[in-house]
Amino acid sequence: MENLDLTKGQDHGDRQRFAPLPKPDLKFTPELEAEMRPLYEKVKHVVTPMEWPHYAPLIKAINDLKKQRNAVILAHNYMTPEIFHCVGDFQGDSLQLAKEAGRVEQDVIIQAGVHFMAETSKLMNPDKTVLIPDMEAGCSLAESITADDVKRLRKAYPGVPIVTYVNTSAAVKAECDICCTSSNAVKIVESLGAPRVLVIPDEYLAKYVATQTDVEIIAWKGRCEVHELFTADEIETMREAEPGLKVIAHPECPPEVIDVADFTGSTSGMINWVKDNHPEKVMLVTECSMSSNVAVEVPETQFIRPCNLCPHMKRISLEKILDSLLYMQNEVHVDPEVAKRAKQAVERMVNLTN
Ligand code: 13P
Ligand code: SF4
Repeated sequence: MENLDLTKGQDHGDRQRFAPLPKPDLKFTPELEAEMRPLYEKVKHVVTPMEWPHYAPLIKAINDLKKQRNAVILAHNYMTPEIFHCVGDFQGDSLQLAKEAGRVEQDVIIQAGVHFMAETSKLMNPDKTVLIPDMEAGCSLAESITADDVKRLRKAYPGVPIVTYVNTSAAVKAECDICCTSSNAVKIVESLGAPRVLVIPDEYLAKYVATQTDVEIIAWKGRCEVHELFTADEIETMREAEPGLKVIAHPECPPEVIDVADFTGSTSGMINWVKDNHPEKVMLVTECSMSSNVAVEVPETQFIRPCNLCPHMKRISLEKILDSLLYMQNEVHVDPEVAKRAKQAVERMVNLTN
């Protein structure tokens, strides 16, 4: 665990403002129950009455502390519903959160997501204090490639542009020409006007892009440990058991899964598809918590849940978010020289998608 260094580079005002605070009383009193009732009404279909007495005091404490610390919480679509709906200030997919990070005016960003997302927020808004509730919240895709690997690819494929998925470290982004997310990968690849493009590190995203464009795609061998588990057989079995089922897949899924899906898109693309089409029954072939989050907003749709959880996303809890705000711990730093080049890759993407 790393604490904010209150002795270096910060003025007296910051030291005062970011000094550790005492842990609040987390009792579920009748007054608190009454105050929090409207919020519970919103999430009652996805948060059980047994869980609420535990969550409600934490939610109240976090929302009070956000004001005290002048902080915002950026919550990825894979957060559990008590985080996503009850303490998140902005919710979205990787691209939306990166853009939102750049617009934050408050002093502190709490990234309710994984480490590469927190690094991206830091790149987009370097003067802010970016905290991640758990430093170990990684990503199998980000782990699959290093900056040295990208340097070797440059030598092996001279003149071929390199597009990096946002699920990579800032050090990897710094070695690439442009970033992409699952919502814009095809557009980014085509914007380069090159006959061949390296799309790293997700092999399956690269394969999906290759089906959508005439540009020749060269892939790396990274995989998302959550999405690679889905199989076409599992989906066919679900379709037989649930007549009329619509199947919506994330492009990190294996190609045979995407082939049998009704729609493929980023996490927000999937959410929008459900909101626009109001299917009677749907299966979101992605991280499991997202179904609960969408169910709050689309109560008439029945969600069939293939429960694959991302162990990294699930490291983020209300307790750890509260600790971030109390102790201002786990600050995310990016080396300034790396940050400069990594930011260029992210900004090129953002400018193309605006
Ligand atoms: P999105 O950009 O679609 O939110 O995906 C991020 C991610 O980690 C999916 O596994
Ligand atoms: Fe990484 Fe997969 Fe988890 Fe997304 S779901 S953060 S790609 S391991």
